[in-house]
Amino acid sequence: MASPAVGIDGIELWTGKLKLDLATTFAPAHDIDPNKFTKGLGLHASSLPDVYEDIVTMGANAALRLMQRHGLTPEDIGRIDVATETAFDNAKPVATYIAGCLAQVMEGDFAHANLGERKFACIAGTQALDDAANWIHSGRHRGRKALVIATDTALYERGDPGEATQGAGAVAMLVSESPSVTAFGLPQGIGSADETDFLKPHRQFPSVDGKRSMQVYLGRIQDALADFAAAGGSTDPDAHAQFLFHTPFPGMVKKAAVLGYLDGVQGTARGDALAEDLGTLAHPDTFADGRAYLDVLKAHAKHLKQTDHYANWYARAVTPTLKVARQVGNWYTGSVHVARASGLLHAAHSERALTGQPLIVASYGSGAQAEVHAETVQAGWRDEAEALTIQQQLDARYDLSYDEYEAIHAVHTYGAESNLSPRTAPSGEFVVDGRGPMGEYTYAYVA
Ligand code: HMG
Repeated sequence: MASPAVGIDGIELWTGKLKLDLATTFAPAHDIDPNKFTKGLGLHASSLPDVYEDIVTMGANAALRLMQRHGLTPEDIGRIDVATETAFDNAKPVATYIAGCLAQVMEGDFAHANLGERKFACIAGTQALDDAANWIHSGRHRGRKALVIATDTALYERGDPGEATQGAGAVAMLVSESPSVTAFGLPQGIGSADETDFLKPHRQFPSVDGKRSMQVYLGRIQDALADFAAAGGSTDPDAHAQFLFHTPFPGMVKKAAVLGYLDGVQGTARGDALAEDLGTLAHPDTFADGRAYLDVLKAHAKHLKQTDHYANWYARAVTPTLKVARQVGNWYTGSVHVARASGLLHAAHSERALTGQPLIVASYGSGAQAEVHAETVQAGWRDEAEALTIQQQLDARYDLSYDEYEAIHAVHTYGAESNLSPRTAPSGEFVVDGRGPMGEYTYAYVA
């Protein structure tokens, strides 16, 4: 007997409640042309956490809203997997703090639930979805759903080139049998390597070689695409409604999309004609210098953009997945899942029919690994997309001045001093409310 479909049954997003506008606030303070951010990186703003927010509150708030919307109690959840690369505790997982928050306000507790934390930079959110799906396929779930939460406060050191790509927010997802949003396909492509272009050895903020990190990202995506094909998967651009990529900033996806598209048309008349015009695009790892590879890739992108097939594919399958990212920055582990939500939200608003159509999901985490799989959109996707309140949340963010931005960055920097008061008033949400006897953060629900 074929096993039932497993996949995503619900999605909720929670943004940090502060906004740093890159064009009007960040660019003038750094004396940089705003177009570098809005056009070059494709970013308009970063979401940042207010004084009383952190990865636990954002994750718990997304999870609470998702569970309430789906009429679930803790008894219905068999595991909570949290993906994060900004955890503040090396022993006690963030999932325990989040379960503790949820149990404060919900009927019952999570004593029966398997709680854990997944770490592999930004790809951990996708790995946690995979763990949850495997748990269901194994039959150990006893009819329960998994709650997967990707939550991060993605801050860079002040003055780092990555500072313009910061972001903070959480994505909560339910994984279940007979899911209502998307069902996971079987073929999976992986591309991993031991890399040191972006890492945090005993430090809060990343140590990053930006250009090389782009080359490594693209190299791993290329490997994962090849492995996906070897596993029987296809990335035919005409056969997939949307292509989601890990989105540290939309400009990065512009580059990754070239690889996705060329992979999809490989071996077709269109692919052969492109190879004849442009030559074959060499693997990123064959370039000693990341910048040289990025220049070659740019030339390919320029040529492709002038073809109707590529331009139409990009506008239909990629642009909708970037709409939320442009407003929030990099949410690290949540980033590719923001892309899924963004694509579905846009499709719902534009009355697109997606049920039964496949999506390609290309995740990436520094260090480094990429994963590619397909998902088939299920009949309940539109209801779920229409229930998302992310646009209202974004509109309600407090717009920081540059001085306030500097102060809030310090609030969230270990060991820095800042006595900034909250810029927003919490309501119907979890907040950080102090420290307990062991130095642990404590959390309360503000009605
Ligand atoms: P940079 O070096 O300051 O920026 O930082 P740049 O000079 O390369 O400019 C960026 C783009 O803006 C370029 O576009 C410029 O041409 C353009 P491109 O050539 O690449 O298409 N530009 C302009 N466009 C219009 N008008 C202008 C203008 N000026 C410039 N006036 C960098 C860029 C990405 C290196 C930096 O933001 C950084 O270090 N970011 C952090 C690392 C990162 O995000 N890497 C991405 C791949 S690794 C990844 O995704 C993993 C990650 O999420 C972590 C994890 O896995 O945990 C980061």
